[in-house]
Amino acid sequence: MEHRKESLETLIVHGDHKLDPLTGSIAPPIYPASTFAFKSTQHGAELFINHRKGYYYTRVANPTINQMCTRMALLEGGETALAFASGMAAIHAVFIALAGAGDSLLLSDTIYGGTYALCSNVLPKIGIEPIWVDTTDLETIKRGIAKNTRGIFIETPANPTLKVIDIAGAAEIAHSRGIPLIVDNTFPTPYLQRPLELGADIVIHSATKYLGGHGDLVGGLVVGSEEVYQKVHPILSNVGGCMSPFNAWLIIRGLKTLHIRMERHCQNALEVARFLEGHRAVETVWYPGLPGHPQHELAKRQMDNFGGMVAFEVKGGKEAGRRVMDSVHICTLAVSLGDVDTLIQHPASMTHSTYSEEALLATGITPGLIRISVGLEKANDIIDDLRDALDKI
Ligand SMILES: Cc1ncc(COP(=O)(O)O)c(C=O)c1O
Repeated sequence: MEHRKESLETLIVHGDHKLDPLTGSIAPPIYPASTFAFKSTQHGAELFINHRKGYYYTRVANPTINQMCTRMALLEGGETALAFASGMAAIHAVFIALAGAGDSLLLSDTIYGGTYALCSNVLPKIGIEPIWVDTTDLETIKRGIAKNTRGIFIETPANPTLKVIDIAGAAEIAHSRGIPLIVDNTFPTPYLQRPLELGADIVIHSATKYLGGHGDLVGGLVVGSEEVYQKVHPILSNVGGCMSPFNAWLIIRGLKTLHIRMERHCQNALEVARFLEGHRAVETVWYPGLPGHPQHELAKRQMDNFGGMVAFEVKGGKEAGRRVMDSVHICTLAVSLGDVDTLIQHPASMTHSTYSEEALLATGITPGLIRISVGLEKANDIIDDLRDALDKI
């Protein structure tokens, strides 16, 4: 049957429309099996030549994981997706697939602290060097690319300062030098931003965050073309950082409400950002949806809405910030993001503590910066909680 082209919301709910072929179950079954039987020795040998013709071992391929990957590829507009045990495993696999000893990768100077540590401490051990630049400036990206650079990696909006990077502009520069643009799309999700449509080549997710959406799993994803799959799958199956089928199932369940959750995250975050902007104890608020954000116009162009993450600086620096975080009751003091619960944390001593002090200051991750992942509680309750805490300063 011919289907009309569906809206993103319908794709989010239905995926590829495939019901369980055995029972018609609308909720997908979970295949927790590590091993799948061959029909014959010949069949086994064929699957070892082409694992995409069936299943034999879950580290290589699994039906529940594949179902989730098909959904994510559809939502991001990619040809295929690969699933990993965590966002970090996904990022590592892409870097290793693209670069080897003697190569470099160009990266945003403001990114998640785990990615920063991977590139600063782990990849140099195998001869891959990071080149850190302020990717909000396209000229700086151009100047930063070296002869041995094998890819450009950006996060937008960036963790934790919510800087917004021009995806189409960065893609054009990358392609003019024959290298791919990789975008960590964890903060916006495909509901708010689709980097492949803007020219990027590879999309990465920490599925731990909004995709799962309930703070009950760790997982990562790589989405891209068939060529990307061919490069990255050998790293997935040979290094072995595969996702568990149960986590893939949880992500499918989470994805079905992605649009509703993201709408409310955005609405609540905007209300929280506006409140913070007006409070006497707050120095600066970083939220791409505020007209005062340095890349607000760019965010309007490349995003459908501005996401659930807000960062702010309290007057009085680190001590004042610590008092705010120790005084909240509705907001939970915890790392991670994209949960239904509002989570508040201090990047300089938590998620970004892997940065050197100079790197923290150079990238605007000041000692007083606080990051909030605005959850799905009633916005007024979150605001009242923050007001009570800020009024103590
Ligand atoms: C933007 C971003 N990318 C990647 C990661 C790493 O993902 P995971 O914790 O699933 O390994 C995180 C984790 O916080 C993140 O915030």
